[in-house]
Formats: sequence, structure tokens, C-alpha cells
Amino acid sequence: MRVIGLMSGTSVDGIDAALVDIKGTGYDLTLRLVDGEIRAFPTSLQQAILAVCRGDSISLAELASLDDAIAREFALAAQQLIDRCGPVDLIASHGQTVFHRSAGDRSQSSPVSLGYSLQLGRGSVVAQQLGLPTVSNFRQADIDAGGEGAPLVPIVDLCLLSHAQQSRCIQNIGGIGNVTYLPAWNRQGQACPPTVLGWDTGPGNSLIDIAMTQLSEGALTYDRDGLWAAQGTPCDALINSWLEHPYFRLPPPKSTGRELFGWQYFQHCQQMARQRGLVAVDLVATLTRFTAATIAQAYQQFLPALPEAVLVCGGGSQNPMLMTHLRSYLPEVSVVTTTAAGLSARYKEAIAFAVLGFWHWHQFPGNLPSVTGARAAVVLGQIHYPKGRA
Ligand SMILES: Nc1ncnc2c1ncn2[C@@H]1O[C@H](COP(=O)(O)OP(=O)(O)O)[C@@H](O)[C@H]1O
Ligand SMILES: [Mg+2]
Repeated sequence: MRVIGLMSGTSVDGIDAALVDIKGTGYDLTLRLVDGEIRAFPTSLQQAILAVCRGDSISLAELASLDDAIAREFALAAQQLIDRCGPVDLIASHGQTVFHRSAGDRSQSSPVSLGYSLQLGRGSVVAQQLGLPTVSNFRQADIDAGGEGAPLVPIVDLCLLSHAQQSRCIQNIGGIGNVTYLPAWNRQGQACPPTVLGWDTGPGNSLIDIAMTQLSEGALTYDRDGLWAAQGTPCDALINSWLEHPYFRLPPPKSTGRELFGWQYFQHCQQMARQRGLVAVDLVATLTRFTAATIAQAYQQFLPALPEAVLVCGGGSQNPMLMTHLRSYLPEVSVVTTTAAGLSARYKEAIAFAVLGFWHWHQFPGNLPSVTGARAAVVLGQIHYPKGRA
């Protein structure tokens, strides 16, 4: 089956589209990335999304227009791949998260509190525009089952990146950082997969991107190749105090978004940096090292043991300074990108949604209760058919 996975994360930099050829059933998949595309959002649309993510008010009519405008961009990203590579069978579209609220206390005694996660770019419009069945709204079924609705990629990591002898962390560094912990899994000897852990580690590129946009007065939106960070000196005292944020002490399952590590939190960091007399490049260097520190600290706090290898993916894997700091915090561990293990670091998240869409098609459950906190494994996503098809 040829499936296009479409994803835009908390960075709101653009749509990652991956066309993959998938064969097999359940965990037993063979997958080939045919081609990928990163389609930047038009600036006005990006600004509108960021405003909603920041909590700016919006009328319901504006929300409806934004929903459809995002859907059309997602469809265009898929269309680019179809024009280049030929027809596909299925679209799996994550959409753009604009609001995410974690599930409340899961203890029996507390009142029912489900998580809430809103992705714009409705699947029905994508399906209509492309004339193709489209799976979307992947998080809802897990939330309905009491889960966080996130992270959803760990099951795909288990399927595609687990190793027979080596324990691994798969670390995505998008706007937010997410880890999947994969104990070694010898599929010949162990029919059942091992218990996978996974959660949002905290900020990924979000704080660095906000700092760059602010400090360059809008000229730059991210620290390309870590060039600014490389020119500054990180302040370890600030990093240590930022590591005290209560989110880092919260045990998994947990998920977060721009609500915690966005604009407001950046302002708090910037104010503290000013008090210490840090210049712009020092602040970027400190936020970059802080991001790596949150990841390493999370492993030390919540994993049964440090992994033998960390495979990094997402846009942050392209930032050499982030990679260097991560290696310095984890000196005993091999830290490389997923590309080194044969799965494109830049497209892994989009590939993962293609797999989740494929699993929806085959009604194979796509969440891991050990990761999301859901009561059960459930089939993820809703399917939309283009007009005239049932
Ligand atoms: N060459 C690069 N150097 C440094 N950072 C990069 C580079 N390429 C991408 N990034 C970072 O990755 C982010 C996008 O990562 P992505 O995985 O798409 O995140 P998300 O899933 O949140 O959209 C950019 O906003 C930027 O911060
Ligand atoms: Mg992105």
C-alpha cells in the first residue's frame, strides 16, 4: 500500500510529507520511503496558527476558516508528492495541533477528567481535495480511553527501530521533545513485544526558535546549524534553575506543548538571562544546552537504565550543537540520528503517521497504553472518504 503521512508539529514550521510503500501486517512490516517533502506554511497562515496556539481569541467563523485553510495546505503537500511519484492509496494526516491539555489525575478518587487535544486541518477537506481516503484525528480514541493522546509515535518506533540486543531511546526533537524507550527485542525468541515507555521530555526546538525570532527581530526563525549557539557560552547556573520546572519532576505518562514551553516561558528565561547579563548568543547557547539537559535528566530520572544508544530524529537532529550537548550529558551512550539506523531522521514523524494510517486501514490498534496511560489499546483515527464513496 502506498501511503502519504502528513505531519506538522509544535514548531509550526511547515508540513512534513512522506510517501511510503508499506507491506505486511501488525508489527511485521516492510517499509520503504519513496520520497518526502517539507512544505513551509505561508507566513500569514503560520502567524494565524501561532496566534491561536498562544491563546489569542478567535471567532468560531475564523476557526472554521483556519481549519479549512490548514487542510488545503496539507492536501497541497500531499499533491506535490503525488505529482512527483504517482498515485497513492491512502492519506494519513495528523493535522496541526493548536491546543493540547493533558489528562487529569488518573486515580480512582478524582473526578473524571479526559485530556483534550485539537488538531486543525480536517480530514474531510483533505479527502475531498485529493479524492483519496484520508485518516485523521488520530489522538481522540486514545483520549476517549483515558490516555494522553500523546505521544503516538512510540509504537511505530517499536515496530521499525527496536533492536534484538540493544536497548535504545528514540528521541524526537521537534518543537517539543519526545522519547521512546525500547528495551532490546528479539522477535524470534519473544513473540510479545517488551513494555515500551515514552513521554514528552519537555522543550525541543520551541524555546530556541522563539529566542531566534525575538533576538533577530524576525529575520530568523531558528538557529540554523546551531550557528548562534556555537558563538555563545551556556550558563549552567541558569540551566540548573530551569531544570527545577515542575514538569520535569512529574512521572510519565505525561505530555506537554507550547502551553508550558512557549512564549511565556521564554519570557521568564529571557528575564533571568538579562539579570545575569547574558548577551543574545549566550541566551541561545543556554537554551540549546538546557534542551539537551532536559532530555538527559529525563532518562536518568525515569528509565530503568540508561539506553545503550540514542537515535535522534526531528528538526533538532539537524542542530549540531544540540547533538554535542546531548553527547556531553550522556558520555557512555552512543548518540546518533535515526538515519544511521536506516530511517530518515527528517521524515520519521511523517512516516510514523503513514504507518498509523495503514494500521487504521487494517484496524490494528495504534496506541500503547504503557505510554499514553490509556485503559486499552485502541484503533486510532477516523477515516474520511471523498464525495461519492462510502
Ligand atoms: N539545519 C537545522 N539547524 C538547526 N535547527 C534545525 C535545522 N533544521 C530544522 N531545525 C529545527 O527543527 C524545527 C522543526 O522540526 P520539526 O521536527 O519539523 O518539528 P515539529 O514536529 O514540531 O514541526 C525547526 O523549527 C528548527 O528549530
Ligand atoms: Mg515541523
